[in-house]
Amino acid sequence: MARIPGEAIEEVRNHFDIVEVISSYIDLKKAGRNYVGFCPFHSEKKPSFTVSPEKQIFYCFGCQSGGNLFSFVMNMEDCSFPEAVRFLAEKSGINIESVSSTPAEKKELQAREILIKMNSLAQKYFEAMLWKTSKGKKVLHYLLKRGLTEQTIIDFHLGYAGESWQGLTGELLKRGLSLDLAVRGGLVKKSTERYYDYFHDRLIFPIWDSHGRVVGFGGRVLEQGEPKYLNSPESPLFSKSKNLYGLHMAIPYIRRDKEALLVEGYMDVILLHQHGVKDAVALLGTSLTEKQISLLRGRLGKLTLAFDADTGGEIAALRGLELLRNEGCQVLVAQFPEGQDPADFVREHGEENFRREILQKARSLVDYRLYVRKKRHDLTKEEGRVSYWKEARSILSDISETMEREEYLKKIAKEINVSLEVLREDLEKIIWSFSLSQKKVFKESTSQTVSLKELVEKELLSCLFKYPRYLTLLREYEISDEGFTEGPYREIARYLFELDRNGKEIETAAFLSYFSDQEMHKLIIRMALPFQIEEESKVVKIIKGCIRKIKALTWAEERQTLTKSLQSTVNRSEVSVKLQRIHDLKKREEEICRSGEGEDFDG
Ligand code: CTP
Ligand code: MN
Repeated sequence: MARIPGEAIEEVRNHFDIVEVISSYIDLKKAGRNYVGFCPFHSEKKPSFTVSPEKQIFYCFGCQSGGNLFSFVMNMEDCSFPEAVRFLAEKSGINIESVSSTPAEKKELQAREILIKMNSLAQKYFEAMLWKTSKGKKVLHYLLKRGLTEQTIIDFHLGYAGESWQGLTGELLKRGLSLDLAVRGGLVKKSTERYYDYFHDRLIFPIWDSHGRVVGFGGRVLEQGEPKYLNSPESPLFSKSKNLYGLHMAIPYIRRDKEALLVEGYMDVILLHQHGVKDAVALLGTSLTEKQISLLRGRLGKLTLAFDADTGGEIAALRGLELLRNEGCQVLVAQFPEGQDPADFVREHGEENFRREILQKARSLVDYRLYVRKKRHDLTKEEGRVSYWKEARSILSDISETMEREEYLKKIAKEINVSLEVLREDLEKIIWSFSLSQKKVFKESTSQTVSLKELVEKELLSCLFKYPRYLTLLREYEISDEGFTEGPYREIARYLFELDRNGKEIETAAFLSYFSDQEMHKLIIRMALPFQIEEESKVVKIIKGCIRKIKALTWAEERQTLTKSLQSTVNRSEVSVKLQRIHDLKKREEEICRSGEGEDFDG
């Protein structure tokens, strides 16, 4: 594992207040000494995501995720540890070079930085082509004809890719930028003999990440042609499924109103913003992903989906939306007159009508799902009613609130003319069997075996986190980091010993920076969380107990290995040496167990 210089990491970490950084992603409220909010990493109805300004750590009591500033950024930005450090270093203006680690990582980081520059250069190039060339002026005219104002075109930095196949390529070359890198970044393509522009003769929509950096482009054909939209390919900077178009512009409004509108197209976002609906964001030609939802989570009270009729049904079925619903976010589905999309509607009818006719008439997600299903069946026939009920039943079984289920049940009972009692009973049967099968899955996935020794090690480390001075006890009993099971516990132990050797105190947030692994952060946070031990004498007892157990278990392990190896040992003297050792180990195990008696440690 490559390590970043510790001082550099600390410099970056000390530059930030974790509360401020997390607040830029989700809403936090002060609660006593801590701040709380809805966890962005799992779905919840009550905020159990806690940030401690004193300790500079976060912890979620719901999903047990936790860590410091860097772990949070790693999770939110979906990046590695060095990337998270660099990301924050960049914001704070701390010299990045001294922070990056291995030469390979350094190179990759540099590449990303250059790609960001290239993208911004490309954006300016496309913009100039739109406003300054004669073909560009035609494209401009097309945009104005579609109802965009000049100001909107400027605000969204729309552009035109030009008729030359070498335009952008030439610009990049002129500035001495690597065309191979531009190929990786999706700006340039390479054939056997030469490089040429990826986008050609298209209307260009720059795409930003949530921080407002241009990471990719969408290019629309001007006349007829396929594909209608050509988007930047996946690159180190850009991923269609991890971005939402218009997010960086919509975020202030989304935060203010706790509402967002999700649409399908670039044009929808642009025209909605122009008409004053400023919380609109769009997908980038893919179906909605959980990553995209997580970009919005933690700050929403209401999400309205506004899609074309044909894609709406599919989207509304997405499970990720359940996450939002579960944390108390209303999910609504808006509908448009046949053949219209949000852009058409708002352009034709204006903001007020859009809000009144579309947004206010949006149905709840469940309502919408039921409506989509109902349309597929002929309810005048017995067969249609039965199939509709079967599908409706599975939709309703997702609703956890009994009262809410009841509302829909009543409605369906009327629709298919069956008594409410019958439907209710049938539904409850389903819910019951479903919850049983869920429990089974849950059990299976958590049955990963942790050895007894590891459990003891964990308990010991938890105590040492709070009372590091008792590391001396470990020395007394000749336990070093090597005495811990290889893996996370040994690594944690190693750093504890190291801090102790250097006479440094354990500061959880700083300690976390030693580790780049997310699971490790979770583990450490859980161990570092305060727990109730009233008297220090008890701590000593617990620690001593753990030490004894670890010793005994280590010896038992060795004994087992020896016993097994006896089968294949032929040399007589070797056998007797081993037998002697087994005997000794057994005795020591018994002794150490006995020495713990009377210390009333029950573990
Ligand atoms: N899209 C895409 N690739 C395609 C077609 C569509 O990526 N071949 C994405 C684009 O992000 C587009 C959205 O899906 O904005 C919606 O598609 P569509 O409704 O066809 O485009 P509009 O944005 O409505 O464009 P226009 O109004 O100019 O037809
Ligand atoms: Mn459209």
